[in-house]
Amino acid sequence: MRVKLVVGNWKMNGNLASSQALLKAILPAVAKFDRARYAVCPPYPYLAAIGTALRGSNMALGAQDLCRFEDGAYTGAVSGAMLADCGCRYAIVGHSERRGVFGEGDDLVAQKHAQALKHGVTPILCVGETLAEREAGSTESVVARQLDAVTKRCGAAALGQAVIAYEPVWAIGTGKTATPQQAQDVHAFIRGRIAAADRHVADALTLLYGGSVKAGNAAQLFAMPDVDGGLIGGASLAADEFVAICRAAQDAKETVKA
Ligand code: 13P
Repeated sequence: MRVKLVVGNWKMNGNLASSQALLKAILPAVAKFDRARYAVCPPYPYLAAIGTALRGSNMALGAQDLCRFEDGAYTGAVSGAMLADCGCRYAIVGHSERRGVFGEGDDLVAQKHAQALKHGVTPILCVGETLAEREAGSTESVVARQLDAVTKRCGAAALGQAVIAYEPVWAIGTGKTATPQQAQDVHAFIRGRIAAADRHVADALTLLYGGSVKAGNAAQLFAMPDVDGGLIGGASLAADEFVAICRAAQDAKETVKA
């Protein structure tokens, strides 16, 4: 049985006061939801303060990125150990904005994945194709390449210790959501690929969908058998929207293993 997970990725938005106000509106509502897991990923400078605000709640703390190195002369970087120290349970790795805007390649992402695991922080590994790649029919090969880079560097077990988020680049921040069936098809592909190495790991794996998830489409997406929750960008910045998405996870039927 897989328990749903909803993660808010705040990206580079808001300030300390707005972040705290957002949580004040979200936490009491989400506190009533006891059948799913929840997390938010604020910008780095707010991790400690938001971590304090989350104490005693049913919402975990996550970071949006981390450095591939352990420690030392890496100006501007933040290590996995620092994230663990701030109380982060999760760290997003390989978000398409990191891959696309900041030029992060598959192996760099795999190194970050390894660093997170080393420090007991669960990586949320993002994979997904661009519109051009989808139209060229290469969705599965792109996703496979992104997954294989992690298994090559970190070993097959590394995916089992992670959360994987399928985020088609064409659906991020565009208002163009993948249909539940499109999401399900890629999720089933990902789970199948991991099952080929280890069936039990694949069955237990949490697979999130991300890309224009809103209150109005979350329930249909979460109803798909291989969609175990969502990685939410824009809608995680609006309390009502985010709470409604969290409720959809609470109300979704648990996926029972075949
Ligand atoms: P949107 O929900 O704004 O499309 O962003 C998705 C995303 O990138 C989450 O990581």
